[in-house]
Amino acid sequence: MIIAVDGPAASGKGTIAKALGRHYDLPVLDTGLLYRAVGLSVLKAGGDPDHEADALSACSFADAILSDPALRSEAVGSLASRVSVHQNVRDALIQRQRDFATQPGGAILDGRDIGTVIAPDADAKIFVTASVKVRAERRFQDALNHGGHPDMDSLVADIQARDTRDMSRDHAPLKQAEGADLLDTSDLTIDAAVQRAIALVDAQLEGHP
Ligand code: DC
Repeated sequence: MIIAVDGPAASGKGTIAKALGRHYDLPVLDTGLLYRAVGLSVLKAGGDPDHEADALSACSFADAILSDPALRSEAVGSLASRVSVHQNVRDALIQRQRDFATQPGGAILDGRDIGTVIAPDADAKIFVTASVKVRAERRFQDALNHGGHPDMDSLVADIQARDTRDMSRDHAPLKQAEGADLLDTSDLTIDAAVQRAIALVDAQLEGHP
């Protein structure tokens, strides 16, 4: 069984994917981490993330980078978004994601193009979203909790820039996949969003026994 969870930055898709993993006892792949690893590798190599050849050469990153805490920063998220526009970068990462998706017993993947490109035949698909204001507030709170000094205006601008790039790129743009249920988490607690996600997945699974 494959469950696809897509959505924009800070929508709650990662939290929901992990909770679904616990509920259905399935492994979860945060595919954004792969793009973040490419972004961070380009930076470390002194390359240009907007330059296709530089971004492609960063795709052969060592797996150790996947546990680097630097991957979680907003700066690396933005680099990831920039390298992810290149088709050859997406191609270089596709097999790894498909292998994870098709492992025996099933899997959950979260990202931007899981339901559209990586696993279009997934058994269940959810598109998680939330308003820009709510997503920026989540990032704000997150940064405060980690001892940071966030600036609301720049968080809103970062989220809008990332949405625009991820949704308007030529290759595998972020969009609600055919057959995906929309889950707007703007007014939901984490628990309520997870319960709603489980209900949506259960209903889709009943539809495809
Ligand atoms: O989910 P995230 O914020 O960690 O993703 C970082 C960037 O990686 C995102 O802005 C676009 C890119 N990405 C992608 O293009 N396709 C995916 N399946 C996952 C992430």
